[in-house]
Amino acid sequence: MIKARDSTWLLLICLLIGQFYVLCHGSPIEEETDYQGDDYDYGDTDGDDGDNLEGADPPENQDLSGSPPYFDQTELRIEAKPGDDVILNCDARNFQINNAVMWYKGTTIIANGQNSVSNRVEGMKNNSILLRGVTSHDSGEYNCAILPQNVRQITTLRVGARLSILCDDRDVTDRSQTFRQGDHHKLECRTYLSAETSIKWSFNGQRVESSPEDTADGIIVLDNVDEMNAGVYQCLGDDGSRDPPHGMVTIDVHYSPKVSTHRHHVNTEHGGTAEMYCNYRANPIAISFFIKDGKTLQLSEKYSIKNSFHNGHNRTTLIVKDVDVGDLGEYLCHVENAIGSNEAKIHLSYDPETPQFEDMTIDGTKVTMHWLVRSLQPLSEAMLDYKLTGSYTWSTVSVLQTQRHNQTGGIWKITHQLDLPARGLWHARVKTRNTQGWSNFSPDHDFRLADDDASNELIDMNLPPDQIMRAGIGGSVGGGAASALQQLPAGSFFLAGLSVLWLRLRL
Ligand SMILES: *[C@@H]1O[C@H](CO)[C@@H](O)[C@H](O)[C@H]1NC(C)=O
Ligand SMILES: *[C@@H]1O[C@H](CO)[C@@H](O)[C@H](O)[C@H]1NC(C)=O
Ligand SMILES: *[C@@H]1O[C@H](CO)[C@@H](O)[C@H](O)[C@H]1NC(C)=O
Repeated sequence: MIKARDSTWLLLICLLIGQFYVLCHGSPIEEETDYQGDDYDYGDTDGDDGDNLEGADPPENQDLSGSPPYFDQTELRIEAKPGDDVILNCDARNFQINNAVMWYKGTTIIANGQNSVSNRVEGMKNNSILLRGVTSHDSGEYNCAILPQNVRQITTLRVGARLSILCDDRDVTDRSQTFRQGDHHKLECRTYLSAETSIKWSFNGQRVESSPEDTADGIIVLDNVDEMNAGVYQCLGDDGSRDPPHGMVTIDVHYSPKVSTHRHHVNTEHGGTAEMYCNYRANPIAISFFIKDGKTLQLSEKYSIKNSFHNGHNRTTLIVKDVDVGDLGEYLCHVENAIGSNEAKIHLSYDPETPQFEDMTIDGTKVTMHWLVRSLQPLSEAMLDYKLTGSYTWSTVSVLQTQRHNQTGGIWKITHQLDLPARGLWHARVKTRNTQGWSNFSPDHDFRLADDDASNELIDMNLPPDQIMRAGIGGSVGGGAASALQQLPAGSFFLAGLSVLWLRLRL
């Protein structure tokens, strides 16, 4: 009895709703049924836009079928750009005429069936809602609930910023990223504004000029990422306005240590104290140690370590006390971090260190060159090789110049004047001998003897001023020594073309 009465009520309600539905949608449905009725024979009585309007089906087809409504997908994500019109669907299967739809944003009701409660939304006849001109405030979780079963579908709407930076298609705007050495990454700057916007990238404050096709897309491709790619990337969407959108991403790069030394050969003497320098950079933080003859050196009376920081790199200095023959040979400076490890080799000997070119003057075909050499032992001899580009053999000037000195440490300056027989590109190198042996040859120094005198000045100016620092007599102490040397009258101790000048500098 009770059951029958309930069904009757239900049927009545359904009929009423059905009536209401038809009334509400009277005009659009009429047009469509007219058109469709000409060409198609739908089994369905309602020839409207198909499954969208299941709710409008005549109640007698479905009312008691019993299966509850459900969604094919219970969670949806929608990405939108600012200004877009966004439709959120509520496309339930088995939607019955007795079902009602309720829209929530978070926990707030925003639409009751097709009647919007919030002025941000417009209800649509198929239970979808429309948000016009979305902004980032519209981002959030929207719920479409089918009542009375309370079957829900969650739609997460994300409205992007006016500009966003994507790294490998993920939004990283105003965040930081850590890359690994050797990686490949793509940074893309997107704006959701008029097409007039031109995208401008900068890296560590410098405008990035990439290839035209890349900049057009606002893309920076980082191939084989390395230390130099670390920094702040900023993107500006220049739309001509006073407040153009912009964003940034900070890139950190993890790389295996880069290890070097500015003195590959270190001269020392019996009983002296030797210092060997190991320069490195690393990220993340690295540890360093020295190896000799396959053994890691432990701190002791003999060995000590000094850590310091120089021009953007860390320096570990190994100090060896009371040197004897057994301490000579090759030392490895080993530096490692979470990414990898690298080594630099340093050779300790009694021989002079490799000479370094200091500077030169050119006067017509007369060339005066200066080199610097470190040797605690007196220099006994120096040899200068020179040749014109294209010739196979070196011309050699060997000058024996033995001077007695009563100092026990310092830098030597070698000066030589040549009268060159031809103009063109010349190469020169020097090696020296002390009481213990020969040094290596210096790296070639290349210089051009120009065709006309007027350009000679230019050549002088082209000499790299930082040659000594780079070449390695540098370091904090050596740098000072080198500049002190430059203040001395060059070639003041000329002797048979080549002179060896003792400088009373202790390092
Ligand atoms: C509901 O109607 C709107 C407007 O006609 C349409 O864009 C949308 O796709 C419809 N939704 C479904 C689920 O069909
Ligand atoms: C290397 O230098 C950085 C400073 O740039 C410092 O934070 C770090 O502790 C140094 N590492 C070592 C091992 O000295
Ligand atoms: C060697 O030492 C003596 C005495 O100390 C000094 O007079 C002389 O100038 C020194 N010679 C050189 C070349 O430095």
